[in-house]
Amino acid sequence: MRLYQTLVLTTLCITNVVHAIWLDTNNDTTIREDCNLIAKGLLDYYEGTKYGGTIGMFTPPYYWWEAGGAWGGLIDYTFFFENDTLVPLIKAALEYQTGDDNNYVPLNQSTTEGNDDQGFWGIAVMGAAERNFSNPEDPDKAWLTLAQSVFNTMTARWDENECNGGLRWQIFQWNSGYDYKNSVSNGCLFHIAARLARYTSNDTYVEWAERVWDWMYGVGLLTEGDWWFVYDGAKVANNCSNITKYQWTYNQGLMLAGCAYLYSYTQDKKWYNYTHRLLDGSRVFFKNISGSMVMYEAACQPSGTCNNDQRSFKAYFSRFLGLTSVLVPDTEPIITKWLVDSANSAAGSCSGGTDGHTCGLDWTNWTRGWDGMYGLGEQMSALEVMQNLMAHKRPAPYTASNGGSSLSNPAAGYGTSITNTSPLHLGPGDKAGAGIITAIVGVSLIGTCVWLIL
Ligand SMILES: *[C@@H]1O[C@H](CO)[C@@H](O)[C@H](O)[C@H]1NC(C)=O
Ligand SMILES: *[C@@H]1O[C@H](CO)[C@@H](O)[C@H](O)[C@H]1NC(C)=O
Ligand SMILES: *[C@@H]1O[C@H](CO)[C@@H](O)[C@H](O)[C@H]1NC(C)=O
Ligand SMILES: *[C@@H]1O[C@H](CO)[C@@H](O)[C@H](O)[C@H]1NC(C)=O
Ligand SMILES: *[C@@H]1O[C@H](CO)[C@@H](O)[C@H](O)[C@H]1NC(C)=O
Ligand SMILES: *[C@@H]1O[C@H](CO)[C@@H](O)[C@H](O)[C@H]1NC(C)=O
Ligand SMILES: *[C@@H]1O[C@H](CO)[C@@H](O)[C@H](O)[C@H]1NC(C)=O
Ligand SMILES: *[C@@H]1O[C@H](CO)[C@@H](O)[C@H](O)[C@H]1NC(C)=O
Ligand SMILES: *[C@@H]1O[C@H](CO)[C@@H](O)[C@H](O)[C@H]1NC(C)=O
Ligand SMILES: *[C@@H]1O[C@H](CO)[C@@H](O)[C@H](O)[C@H]1NC(C)=O
Repeated sequence: MRLYQTLVLTTLCITNVVHAIWLDTNNDTTIREDCNLIAKGLLDYYEGTKYGGTIGMFTPPYYWWEAGGAWGGLIDYTFFFENDTLVPLIKAALEYQTGDDNNYVPLNQSTTEGNDDQGFWGIAVMGAAERNFSNPEDPDKAWLTLAQSVFNTMTARWDENECNGGLRWQIFQWNSGYDYKNSVSNGCLFHIAARLARYTSNDTYVEWAERVWDWMYGVGLLTEGDWWFVYDGAKVANNCSNITKYQWTYNQGLMLAGCAYLYSYTQDKKWYNYTHRLLDGSRVFFKNISGSMVMYEAACQPSGTCNNDQRSFKAYFSRFLGLTSVLVPDTEPIITKWLVDSANSAAGSCSGGTDGHTCGLDWTNWTRGWDGMYGLGEQMSALEVMQNLMAHKRPAPYTASNGGSSLSNPAAGYGTSITNTSPLHLGPGDKAGAGIITAIVGVSLIGTCVWLIL
C-alpha cells in the first residue's frame, strides 16, 4: 500500500468516517464496485425514470448541457466495466434529446443553449461512436452522424465578422453572452473536429481543427510560455482584445485531448508538442499534498464559489486526461499518477449523505473527508476520475477502420436550424431567467478570480 493511501485511511479512521468508500487502485474489482455505487448516486438526479420527468434530463437546477456531460461519462462507464445494464437508459436519453433536426439544438433549450452546450452532447455521441456503443435504429440518429451534425451546425456559425473568426458563446442572439467568444465553445469545436478526423480519416476535420486552434492562439485564448494555459474568453468589443483570464479544468482538457487525437491521427510533431505543453500547464489544477497530486478546480474551489456547472468540470477533465494518456503513450506515467492520487482522494471524500457514500466537491483535505457538498457534478467528477483508472485496460477509442460501427453522414445537419436568425417567441419569464443566470455567473466570476501562480 502506498503512503498516501495509508494516510487517507488513517485520517479517515481517526475522524471516524466509517462509510468512506474503500478504493484500491490496483484492484479492478474495487474500482468497479466503487463506480457502481457512485453511478447509482449520480442517477438519483435523473428525471427520466421519475413520474412526469423528461427523458434525458436531470432534475433542476442542472442545465441541459450537464446532462450531455453526464451521459458521456456513463457511456465510458458501460465500456470500461463491460456492463450493459445502463445501455438502454443512456441510449434512450441520447436519442430523445437530439431535437427535431437531429443536431442537439432542441427547441426546449433555446432559452439557455449555447455552442458549448451543444458541444457537450456532441462529445457524448462522439464517445458513443468510439466506444461502439449500441447503435440506434434510425440512421439519422447514428452516433457518428449526430456528431457530424453537431460539427456541421457549429462550423456554419463560425463568425468572421467579429475578431476575424471564432464561435460566439451563444447560438441565439437573445441570450446573454452572444457578445462573448469563449474557449469552451471553440474548444468543443476543436475537440470534436479532432475526434472526427481520427475516427473517419477525413482531413477536412483536421483543417477545421487547425483553423480553430489558430484563431484561439491568434486572439490570445491560448498562451505559451513555460506553461500553456487556456483562458476563458473575450468580449467581441475591441476585436476580442480584452481576455478574461480565468482558467478552468475542462477548457485545458478539451484542448489537451484534442491535440492528442490530432497527433494520434496525423503523427504531426506539432500536435505532440502542443499535447505536452498543455499537459505541463495542467499541473496548475493539482494540489501537491505530501507528494500526492490531487485535482481541484483552482479558480473557484479554494474560495468556495463553484457554481453547479463548475462543480462538474473535473469529470470532463478526468475523461480528457484518460483519453490523452491512451493516445499519446508517453503522457501515461504523469497522467496515471494524477488520476491515481486524485481517485484515492476522491474516494476519501465519498462519505456523505444518507447513503454514506455521497461524494464531495473538494478532495484535497483528507482530515475532513466529505466536505458537505453534494450534487450531480460531484458524483460525475468522482465517477470519471475513478473509472479512468481503467482507460488502459480496455481498447483505445475505436475508429471506423478498427472496430467502430457507427454510420457516417458527412452532410448531416446541413439545411437545418444552423444559424441564429429567427428569434423564437420567448415569454418574459424565460428571458429574465436567462439574464439573471448570466448575471449571477458574472458576479461569481468577478468574486472568484484566482490567479494561478505556481
Ligand atoms: C480485490 O477486491 C475484491 C473486493 O473488495 C476482493 O474480494 C479481492 O480479494 C481483491 N483482490 C485482490 C487481488 O486483492
Ligand atoms: C452493472 O451496472 C449496474 C448499474 O450501474 C450495477 O447495478 C451492477 O452492479 C453492475 N454490475 C456489476 C457486475 O458490476
Ligand atoms: C420539452 O418540454 C416538455 C415540457 O416540459 C416535455 O414534455 C418534453 O418531453 C420536452 N422535450 C424534450 C426533447 O426534452
Ligand atoms: C483583430 O484580431 C485578429 C486576431 O487576433 C487579427 O488578425 C486582426 O488583425 C485584428 N484586426 C484589427 C482590425 O485589429
Ligand atoms: C476588460 O474586461 C474587464 C472585465 O470584464 C472590464 O472590467 C474592463 O473594463 C475591460 N477593459 C476594457 C479596456 O474594455
Ligand atoms: C513547440 O511549439 C512552440 C510554439 O509553436 C515552439 O516555439 C516550439 O519550438 C515547439 N517545440 C518543439 C520541440 O517543436
Ligand atoms: C510535492 O511536494 C513534495 C514535498 O511535500 C516535493 O518533494 C515534491 O517534489 C512535490 N512534487 C511536485 C510535482 O511538485
Ligand atoms: C481540513 O479539514 C479540517 C477539519 O474540517 C480542518 O480543521 C482543517 O483546517 C482543514 N485543512 C485545510 C488545509 O483546509
Ligand atoms: C461493434 O458493434 C458491431 C455491431 O453491434 C459489432 O458487429 C462489432 O463486432 C463491434 N465491434 C467491436 C470491436 O466490438
Ligand atoms: C469530409 O468532411 C467534409 C466536411 O464535413 C465533407 O464535406 C466531405 O464530404 C467529407 N469527405 C468524405 C470523403 O467523406
